[in-house]
Amino acid sequence: MQCSWKAVILLALASIAIQYTAIRTLTSKAFQLCQLPSPQNCGLGGQETEPPFERAAAGSGGCDDYPYFSINATRKMHILILATTRSGSSFVGQLLNQHQEVFYLFEPLYHVQTTLIPRLSHSRTPADRRVMLGASRDLLRSLFDCDLYFLESYIKPTPTNHTTDKLFRRGASRALCQQPVCDAFGTADVNLEEGDCVKKCGALNMTLATEACREKRYVAIKIVRVAEIGDLRALVEDPRLNIKVIQLVRDPRGILSSRIETFRDMYRLWRIWRATGRRPYNLDLSPLTVVCDDFLSSVSTGLGHPYWLKGKYMLVRYEDMARNPLSKTKEIFDYLGLSMDKNVEDWIQANTQGSNEPSAKHKFGTVRDSAANAESWRLRLSYDMVEYTQTVCRKVLQQLGYKFAKSEEELKNMSISLVQDKTFVPFL
Ligand SMILES: *[C@@H]1O[C@H](CO)[C@@H](O)[C@H](O)[C@H]1NC(C)=O
Ligand SMILES: *[C@@H]1O[C@H](CO)[C@@H](O)[C@H](O)[C@H]1NC(C)=O
Ligand SMILES: *[C@@H]1O[C@H](CO)[C@@H](O)[C@H](O)[C@H]1NC(C)=O
Ligand SMILES: *[C@@H]1O[C@H](CO)[C@@H](O)[C@H](O)[C@H]1NC(C)=O
Repeated sequence: MQCSWKAVILLALASIAIQYTAIRTLTSKAFQLCQLPSPQNCGLGGQETEPPFERAAAGSGGCDDYPYFSINATRKMHILILATTRSGSSFVGQLLNQHQEVFYLFEPLYHVQTTLIPRLSHSRTPADRRVMLGASRDLLRSLFDCDLYFLESYIKPTPTNHTTDKLFRRGASRALCQQPVCDAFGTADVNLEEGDCVKKCGALNMTLATEACREKRYVAIKIVRVAEIGDLRALVEDPRLNIKVIQLVRDPRGILSSRIETFRDMYRLWRIWRATGRRPYNLDLSPLTVVCDDFLSSVSTGLGHPYWLKGKYMLVRYEDMARNPLSKTKEIFDYLGLSMDKNVEDWIQANTQGSNEPSAKHKFGTVRDSAANAESWRLRLSYDMVEYTQTVCRKVLQQLGYKFAKSEEELKNMSISLVQDKTFVPFL
């Protein structure tokens, strides 16, 4: 029995690898091998150390078409928002999305995961992880380069004539919902509803999307499917990119509470624990341990200031963002070299004073997770659960400046904040 069970797993893994290889082979038909200049050797006599790099030649791009490889003060900047689900990443993503100069994409890695590991979405074998990572890095590199055709290999059904109506969360990206990509909305329309975009814009023309991306100075991508910043080192160090990472963290106790409300099936037993006060014997603790372990290793890497992250790393606590949205946003924009524009300020106003009503419409939305409830998890989790989380996540809580609740009274007394004042300056 055990043997055949292992065989099934092996088979599954093999098929993932085969699928990935197939996708690479298919897409690489459109690739050319280009000798790439790195910024140092653009006429500055640097060493040619980079190996040839494959690049999709789709669209207008050929080998000598690298608009941002030359040293140029206005070269494109690539912003990576590294987050986890329910860590308030939609909020930070939307801040950037509101800016006129930003082309924003919401979690394109969704398509990688659903294509490569549809059923094993919660498995974390090293082999899965490697396959996901390799594919994710390739995709991110292409998307930062505005090569949206690259994404098509992961979209089901496969887009025809470079159009699709299946792009995940297309409506979360302003640039994909307004002219010239979609005629239903002008560039001046603020507060676009995600659902309206999908309804009124029709299928997405990837060629137009690519052009829209090329027009913008910043490409920002939010991802929740890469756990560790160290896994992205190859991307961060890639001389063809100009990456800045924003790592978003949140109190794991808050994440837990938020997920219990949002992913109801997956967290059913946690809700039973909360309701009955008794921990179900078969409770799967891994969602919690995974969050905390990943945070710990990723944040330790980031705050350890390795040389390859110099000038490219900023840690943002969700709670700081929620308590002082305007000043925190200014800090983030300073780090990115972006000016605040009116759209952004208006949007912050509108979205940090929202209601507390949980509504299906805002399942991934931003309104609910606003300033007022950065610590509202304290009223929703039982002391048992909090105490347990504090045991599992002790190190990362300390590292990020989240205080332990030592008693039920302390937990429920909202006049004492559990968020320490702690400053995380960008690594310059
Ligand atoms: C910098 O790049 C921009 C956009 O690609 C271009 O319009 C501009 O002329 C370049 N400036 C210099 C000094 O090369
Ligand atoms: C794709 O474009 C070609 C040429 O314009 C057309 O003949 C074909 O019907 C289109 N396919 C689909 C599925 O729209
Ligand atoms: C998508 O947009 C491009 C560029 O404007 C256009 O040439 C192409 O025909 C459009 N594709 C479809 C299927 O409408
Ligand atoms: C909450 O904490 C504050 C500050 O320690 C204390 O003064 C207050 O009495 C506490 N409230 C309750 C209801 O325990």
